[in-house]
Amino acid sequence: MPRITFSPFEKTIDIDGSRNILQLAREAGIPLQSTCGGKKICGKCKVVIKKTDGPLPPSSAREQKVLGGYSEKGYRLACETVLSHGAVIRIPEESRLKPQVILTSDTEHSYPVRLRPNVSPHYVEVSPPVLDSVIADRQRLLIALEKTYGIRRPALDPFVLRKLPHTLRSDREGVTVAIRSKDEIIDLYPGRRDSLFGVAFDVGTTTVVAFLMDLITGDRLSVKSAMNPQIAIGDDVITRIAFCRENTGGLEKLRISIVECLNALIAEAAAEAGIDPDEIVEATVVGNTAMHHLFVGLDPHYLPMAPYPPVLQESQDYKARDLGLNIGASAYVHLLPLKAGFVGSDIIACILATGLHRSKIPTLLIDLGTNGEIVFGNKNRMLCCSTAAGPAFEGGHIRWGMRASSGAIERLKIDQEMLDVRWETIYDQRPSGLCGSGIISAIAEMIRAGIILGRGNFDKGLQTPRLRDGEDGPEFVLVWASEAATKQDIVITQKDVAAMQMAKAAVNAGATLLMEQFEGEEVERILLAGAFGNYVDPEDACTIDLFPGCLTAKVVGVGNAAGHGSCLALLDKNKRKEAERLAQKIEYRELAATTRFKELFVSSMFFTSARDFEDVF
Ligand code: FES
Repeated sequence: MPRITFSPFEKTIDIDGSRNILQLAREAGIPLQSTCGGKKICGKCKVVIKKTDGPLPPSSAREQKVLGGYSEKGYRLACETVLSHGAVIRIPEESRLKPQVILTSDTEHSYPVRLRPNVSPHYVEVSPPVLDSVIADRQRLLIALEKTYGIRRPALDPFVLRKLPHTLRSDREGVTVAIRSKDEIIDLYPGRRDSLFGVAFDVGTTTVVAFLMDLITGDRLSVKSAMNPQIAIGDDVITRIAFCRENTGGLEKLRISIVECLNALIAEAAAEAGIDPDEIVEATVVGNTAMHHLFVGLDPHYLPMAPYPPVLQESQDYKARDLGLNIGASAYVHLLPLKAGFVGSDIIACILATGLHRSKIPTLLIDLGTNGEIVFGNKNRMLCCSTAAGPAFEGGHIRWGMRASSGAIERLKIDQEMLDVRWETIYDQRPSGLCGSGIISAIAEMIRAGIILGRGNFDKGLQTPRLRDGEDGPEFVLVWASEAATKQDIVITQKDVAAMQMAKAAVNAGATLLMEQFEGEEVERILLAGAFGNYVDPEDACTIDLFPGCLTAKVVGVGNAAGHGSCLALLDKNKRKEAERLAQKIEYRELAATTRFKELFVSSMFFTSARDFEDVF
């Protein structure tokens, strides 16, 4: 059977002419980018076929268009090319999927924790069995609990019952009973025990973070993170939902992949804390609506179809074992409530964590990823929406865009006279491309230096070799090939600027539309949640008009607020009720349905800080 080898990974796989190179790379575990999920749009899956035992299939016009000038250099799209002969395929540096920097921390802007866990320890001394009257182990335990704490007849599932005889007869005095909501026994321990453990998850489209917590002290024992393995199917939720729709067993495949990821994080975190995963008595999960549905195994089929209804909105409690999570056998997983098809429990958790719903100050909360979720309001009223910002903020559809991984330019400066460029990269590596904050920094600096004008066009009159005509029209060279890890010039193209204009206009218009509903209320505080919000320079964001209110409001990054919200719900059961109430209270606005959004979108496309803005507009 013919085989192909992926270089430089030296992994080989048999081929039968039925699968394209991207599918083969996924099977072989090759870290190949596929931002559009194989739809032949993004051009990120570029590979070079170095050696082949037979003729290559011809390159289609569409492939050549997506590849641009790379086509002449021998590049092919992995998602387009099907080989039936053996070959050696090189995965170039810029096409490799690298581990992303994952934001795990929150900030001082997060709401403090009050310890009221849903599962708490109860020490009891159970009377021993006696000869003259047979009272079962379970009954004696229940009698002791009622006598000591007034807790009446809590449930015990079979997994707890299996431990009961041995635990009651250990050589220690008494037993500690982990009781959930005063109505179910989750676990039993011989003797007196003061610590119980829980795990809080933030399941993002790109990254997943697990926080292992001591439920009694509130201590964070370990934090572990990983890339969401569903990225192998596609970067965005729409591609993954389409995968479920188009492939028999697709939903189950994605469900299993995220459950395995969570289990791996649980094992790592537990090992670091020196506990057994079986000792974890409760978990909480937040995520966007698609991630929620894929984790539970709910059909996401209708999420991308107007009016974008989720299968359910309320918070849910499931036995962890029913979802496949490897924690205590009787433990539960609590999933925080959802609001809409594109406003998930991650946003509810962000509100919980930042205390926006208790604040008097009119506050704008923005969580940017492939979708931009926006909340505006205060304790009296809150509105939310989701904007289809597209993947530009995560480097998608940007010629040299990449994830926030090693070698990504995260910030840069352009000398306003000489137009020389200085950059900072993640882990100080030679530049490989630009992550989201780097793209915003580049465009903001190009506006300040007068390279980009108010309409987003380049000032072609500038005398610098960095400004030139490329295959996608004008482009500005940020990094010369001799300085780049890719050995090619890293540029910002006119098309990149247009992609960012669309993305920022969607966010600005969405936020403005929400704010318009609060007549007379000026935004006083802008909270930027998530990794993007943490790393983007607020001044750069204001220079590109990413959101309204830059002149009046204080802009602050709030770190992984969704993760903090998940921890709050783990440590304080009252926060779960608060989350439920705020999810019901917050008003959702569907932007696609309004002409006002379209008007605002068009007027938000410009750069108001550009040198020529006053003259042209
Ligand atoms: S073009 Fe191949 S994955 Fe996007």
